[in-house]
Amino acid sequence: MLEYAIQTDGLSRSFGAVRAVDGVSMQIPAGTIFGFLGPNGSGKTTTIRLLLGLLEPSRGSATVLGFDSRAQASEIRQRTGALLEHPGLYERLSAQENLEFYARVWELSPAERDARVKELLTHMGLWDRRGDQVGNWSRGMKQKLAVARAMLHRPSLIFLDEPTAGLDPVASAALREDLSSLVTREGVTVFLTTHNLPEAESICDLVGVIRQGHLLTVDSPTHLRSHGGEQKVEFVGQGFTPALLEELRLRPEVAGIEAGNGTLTLALRDDRLVAPLVRLLVEAGCDIEEVRKGAASLEQAFLALMERDA
Ligand SMILES: Nc1ncnc2c1ncn2[C@@H]1O[C@H](COP(=O)(O)OP(=O)(O)O)[C@@H](O)[C@H]1O
Ligand SMILES: [Mg+2]
Repeated sequence: MLEYAIQTDGLSRSFGAVRAVDGVSMQIPAGTIFGFLGPNGSGKTTTIRLLLGLLEPSRGSATVLGFDSRAQASEIRQRTGALLEHPGLYERLSAQENLEFYARVWELSPAERDARVKELLTHMGLWDRRGDQVGNWSRGMKQKLAVARAMLHRPSLIFLDEPTAGLDPVASAALREDLSSLVTREGVTVFLTTHNLPEAESICDLVGVIRQGHLLTVDSPTHLRSHGGEQKVEFVGQGFTPALLEELRLRPEVAGIEAGNGTLTLALRDDRLVAPLVRLLVEAGCDIEEVRKGAASLEQAFLALMERDA
């Protein structure tokens, strides 16, 4: 078993004067759901195309499943599945016919083909609709089918380029749910791109943030969030005296204080320090009715990263 599904070293690709991907070095452990997060035009799709060997790097290199993207692109493509910008479905065929067609392309045996098609359609909640012409389907259903298509040949790594783009929140959530259970069950490494932060947070184990071709960080969503600037915590209660506020203001973890009518809001530099503060408030004689930890979202972390040395 490979330790890393993907390794890049200074991977770069320019289009004329545009450095679409610029010196990206990263290692993605096998079995990870990796989210590649960045605004439009930051180089996400170009990175996928480089990893699949569909584009040549201008500089640097990439190894995917142990194969060099430049010299062994066909080995990579045999072992990976991809859902790129276009779902690659035949609108006039039924869902089942679409998958059967691709199963033939992948040269699955007839028995294996039938079993695999049924398994994937069932998993995606599409089995009852297998005879429908795909052209009449909602975008959400088409994307589910496209994920099934990418998984047909049991790849050990799949690339999904903005799989939920253009889906409504309900369809996105449904797709994410089916996708995560499918990849967990089959032990697939996932490289997905998104500009949707809650999405990355909800399904990814590891997140890479890219801006203007530069990889800014690779981290777990939780870790990224806790480093994303201040964390707000709100106390509801009584007894927030001026002397107490002064004492709080002097504490190193407290970055800001706002006292309102029966509420006290603190901006903290570290969210692990809420419990000692609660104790301090209670010992100072406050009557605490409620503590609301306003989770600094990944979004704030992301924005903080984007603004840093912009
Ligand atoms: N084939 C191409 N020719 C010229 N410029 C391109 C090409 N592909 C991408 N780019 C440019 O490279 C940058 C990164 O694009 P892309 O990788 O598609 O970003 P993302 O997928 O993050 O939105 C953009 O500035 C884009 O215009
Ligand atoms: Mg893109």
